[in-house]
Amino acid sequence: MTAPAEKARPSVGADTRQRRAVVVAGITGLFAGALGLVAALARFVVPDVLYAPPRRFPVGRPEDFPPGSVSFVSERRVFVVNTSEGFYAVSGVCTHLGCNVSRDAGRGFACPCHGSTFAGDGSVKTGPAAWPLPLFAMTLSRRGELVVDTRRRVPADFRLKA
Ligand code: FES
Repeated sequence: MTAPAEKARPSVGADTRQRRAVVVAGITGLFAGALGLVAALARFVVPDVLYAPPRRFPVGRPEDFPPGSVSFVSERRVFVVNTSEGFYAVSGVCTHLGCNVSRDAGRGFACPCHGSTFAGDGSVKTGPAAWPLPLFAMTLSRRGELVVDTRRRVPADFRLKA
């Protein structure tokens, strides 16, 4: 024997269950589409840009570079050279195909990739590199730091008195 309340409820037929399933599937599909649209819009708002590091940057105080030293600032791929005439900054990127150059025994720079060598002022000693290592502008900031600007190239005889 069944309870009276259960008798009052109409029975759910197969057609009704099928319609409910279609409605639920439709709502789920709409919700998934709306979610995808929101995700696409959110992705559109975020710019597709690579943020390059600044091309003008401090490398340290003059006293950080002992007289006669050649220091590689690896994160900037720049050598800071302290000579008796003053400071200068020379690129540490080989002008042939872009490898990092290193100090060679002859007080210049040597590229490990294809063997180019450069003098201490960046001029080419042996190829295959055809162009010298550029010297970058260097200034002394108000805070007393050496600042290299890789946007500006300077002649090979540039020296900063600090
Ligand atoms: S990359 Fe330096 S010699 Fe080729």
